[in-house]
Amino acid sequence: MAPPRLGPVTIGASRLETDELAEAMLRSPFGQIDTSNNYAQGRSEAALGRARRGSDPAVIFSKADADPVTGAFDGDRVLRSFEETVTRLGVARLPVYHLHDPYTVTLREAAGPGGAIGALVALREQGLVDAIGIAAGPLDLLEAYLDTGAFDAVLTHNRYTLVDRGAAPLIAAARQRGIAVFNAAPFGGGLLAGSPRAAGRYAYRPAAPELLAYVDRLDALCREWAVPLPAAAVHFSLRAPDVDSTVVGISSTAQLTALQALVDHPVPDGFFAAVAELGDPP
Ligand SMILES: NC(=O)c1ccc[n+]([C@@H]2O[C@H](COP(=O)([O-])OP(=O)(O)OC[C@H]3O[C@@H](n4cnc5c(N)ncnc54)[C@H](OP(=O)(O)O)[C@@H]3O)[C@@H](O)[C@H]2O)c1
Repeated sequence: MAPPRLGPVTIGASRLETDELAEAMLRSPFGQIDTSNNYAQGRSEAALGRARRGSDPAVIFSKADADPVTGAFDGDRVLRSFEETVTRLGVARLPVYHLHDPYTVTLREAAGPGGAIGALVALREQGLVDAIGIAAGPLDLLEAYLDTGAFDAVLTHNRYTLVDRGAAPLIAAARQRGIAVFNAAPFGGGLLAGSPRAAGRYAYRPAAPELLAYVDRLDALCREWAVPLPAAAVHFSLRAPDVDSTVVGISSTAQLTALQALVDHPVPDGFFAAVAELGDPP
């Protein structure tokens, strides 16, 4: 299966709850939205489904989630999760469908008879999804799932940003194998965008003092070059040759408008060389 052709920016809808924001996402020029069965306990998909019209330019990617009560994540659960998703969204099929955070099963279970991977492959064979992906945090888990050879796409998060380059080898290896790469959370969950909710936190956890000190140095450098820190954070991912699409979380219509300005913000030649001179992030 060929990897999907992707636009450079995908809007992350993990914090989407309102129909107003869903409408703005669907009609935005970015053209791609990333949601999941369990985002906002299903309200993200439901809002997109209510706001969706046949003429919308945006395509929606979603993900299979474990049963929220039992944690079951076998093939049957993947098929039920898919049914819930397409029903909420009001679509018949999906261009990209990921296995999301498979932490309640082992890879052996997921790849074995009746497992999650077989169900995803069956959905693809039936033409109900164009491409299947693996979306999760731990890099060793992503590598092991990609090694099954079943996947067309991978979504990594918080590990290829201005302050964490850990996913660089995974991203390069995926590209070499023709697997589409989604690089999610370029703001590290909000810290690099100045979200008050994420102050002092990186990747949804309290951040080490050394990391916060590095962010302060980055911010000072950004001011010298007149590049806002969130613009630098987005462009760090956008300019990476092996990243197919950068997934940016948006929780308001104002942030959606601001995202366009960040993407359009000029970044002078030499800026990223100056960032490199700060040294490796801690
Ligand atoms: N396992 C997975 O599959 C997985 C894991 C993580 C992420 N993802 C996907 O990737 C997307 C992005 O991840 P993420 O949202 O966690 O992290 P992110 O993109 O690094 O940060 C998004 C947050 O930054 C803040 N923000 C965005 N634009 C801003 C602006 N213009 N001004 C100020 N603050 C701004 C918002 O925080 P506030 O909401 O506090 O305002 C927003 O929620 C998710 O929505 C999801 O679609 C997938």
